[in-house]
Amino acid sequence: MHFTIAIDGPAASGKGTLAKALAKHFGFEHLDTGLLYRAVAARVLAGDTPEHAAQTLDTHHLTHKGMRTPEVGAEASRVAAIPAVRAALVDYQRKVARRKGGAVLDGRDIGTVIAPEAEVKFFITASDTSRAQRRLAEFTAKGIDTDLETVLRDMQDRDARDSDRAAAPLRPADDAITIDTSDLTAEEVLAIAIELVDEVL
Ligand code: C5P
Repeated sequence: MHFTIAIDGPAASGKGTLAKALAKHFGFEHLDTGLLYRAVAARVLAGDTPEHAAQTLDTHHLTHKGMRTPEVGAEASRVAAIPAVRAALVDYQRKVARRKGGAVLDGRDIGTVIAPEAEVKFFITASDTSRAQRRLAEFTAKGIDTDLETVLRDMQDRDARDSDRAAAPLRPADDAITIDTSDLTAEEVLAIAIELVDEVL
């Protein structure tokens, strides 16, 4: 069975949490596509070129370790604006999207570019303040020393880069269902999404 759930949205909107929970609920594979761009960014920060890093990325050994830092996130949104970087990562993402048994992919361009044929598309948003508060809590839990103002500013810069770039900018697909998670718990978002997927499945 092929069934793809595409989840897009800005930083810290709750899309990753939803993607993981939906994949678990339906027994689907999950791919956090931001991790691909973060992995390229980490290699660029270590001295590689963005194009070479993307073309030689080992998708079998992607790790979350050390990837969810502000520095890697900011660099990820810079390398993600380079068309050759995006092009090098398309095939792998499309392969995962059409894998038998169902797949959930989350990112910025899943519903628009990677899997426009996805059976269900969500666009997850939340107010800037809620997103910055969530991201700050994540950083604090990891021992990263920062403050709300810095997190908010970095997040808005990153969102602007992601939305304004020419290559696969962040935007909802025409047929995406938008969920604003500002006043919802992760469980509430999951329940809404499950109901919507069940209508199609
Ligand atoms: O989702 P996450 O915050 O980990 O993504 C890091 C960066 O990778 C984003 O800011 C964005 O620039 C880029 N990205 C992208 N397309 C995707 C996923 C992530 O451009 N599908």
